Amino acid sequence: MSALTLGQNMRYLSRAEVVNLGITRATVLEKVHQALVEHGNKRYEMPAKIGVHPYEDVFFHAMPAYIPEMKVVGAKWIECYPRNPREFNLPQTTGVLCLNDVETGVPTTLMDSTWLTAARTPAVTVLMAKKLHPGAERFGMFGAGVQGREHVRYAAEHLDSLSEIVVYDRFPEVAEKLVADLQPDVGVRLRVGTSIEQVVKECEVLSSATLVVREPMALAKSEWVSAGQTILPCDLNTFWDPEIPLRADVYITDSTEEHDLFVEMGYYPGGSPVIAAESGEVLADLKPGRTSADQLIVNSNIGMAVCDMAVAQAIHEAAEAQGAGTLLEL
Ligand SMILES: NC(=O)c1ccc[n+]([C@@H]2O[C@H](COP(=O)([O-])OP(=O)(O)OC[C@H]3O[C@@H](n4cnc5c(N)ncnc54)[C@H](O)[C@@H]3O)[C@@H](O)[C@H]2O)c1
Repeated sequence: MSALTLGQNMRYLSRAEVVNLGITRATVLEKVHQALVEHGNKRYEMPAKIGVHPYEDVFFHAMPAYIPEMKVVGAKWIECYPRNPREFNLPQTTGVLCLNDVETGVPTTLMDSTWLTAARTPAVTVLMAKKLHPGAERFGMFGAGVQGREHVRYAAEHLDSLSEIVVYDRFPEVAEKLVADLQPDVGVRLRVGTSIEQVVKECEVLSSATLVVREPMALAKSEWVSAGQTILPCDLNTFWDPEIPLRADVYITDSTEEHDLFVEMGYYPGGSPVIAAESGEVLADLKPGRTSADQLIVNSNIGMAVCDMAVAQAIHEAAEAQGAGTLLEL
């Protein structure tokens, strides 16, 4: 397939075409790192997510972003329907992403964003885990779905000090399948956790990708959490006892603006924690992360469009180089 002609056509990439480009986890980490550092330095444009809610428990988000230094601009249109997997055998999160040419504004690539979302989210967790908790030996993962699987892959490959990853899902067979499927591919021992309490108490670094619900599920209790741990939720703290972010010595979020939006929407009924820094500021060494071994750190990464655009750029470049996808007339 030939290269696209600016203003005349754009490239469409299906989910399988995106996957088949063969973009490595190392590339995703590099792109996401760059995007976070730009974000930390406030060199970006990214309005807080606007959304619509056809049902009480679902959301659609519009996620535009522009990163001048990386010369990337576009928007992701994503949904989260928590009941999809069980009721419709469809993913909880799907969406599309449109990249545009910075100079002329014309659309260049429209892509399925499932792979990209599944990749950039654990990339953020792992980059932050490395920064906030170097030397961790045990990583605990709550939720063994799309995000849980990718978190395990990224953590196993890029958190060098890990000796074990413990996975917990409310459906034990889902966690067992994750371990059986991924163990042959990774060098770290994978194990199914038998209870939330056990996993919280055993692991120094913990992440969760379960459900985002307005009323906290509060399944991981504050009394199980101890000094020195690092907790990196991807599901807006709803899995965790609301007291945990409030008692954290350091509370970091990827975007204060996004955080405030969710506070306004009522996702933090116990009150908002005091934000010490944004993830990008810590990664860019503009603000401290962990300053002592006994600090309890919570780093909630809500998900940022700057990270999406950075990974989409890698996809766009690979697709151009490989002539992948379908050219559609504008
Ligand atoms: N922060 C971000 O950038 C970001 C990006 C994508 C998805 N997410 C969020 O991550 C979460 C997971 O997304 P996904 O695509 O992996 O969904 P998924 O449906 O594929 O997986 C979710 C898993 O969590 C398990 N689970 C649900 N409730 C649980 C509980 N109480 N205890 C233990 N396990 C439980 C489910 O059984 C399932 O296996 C969602 O809440 C989604 O909104 C966040």
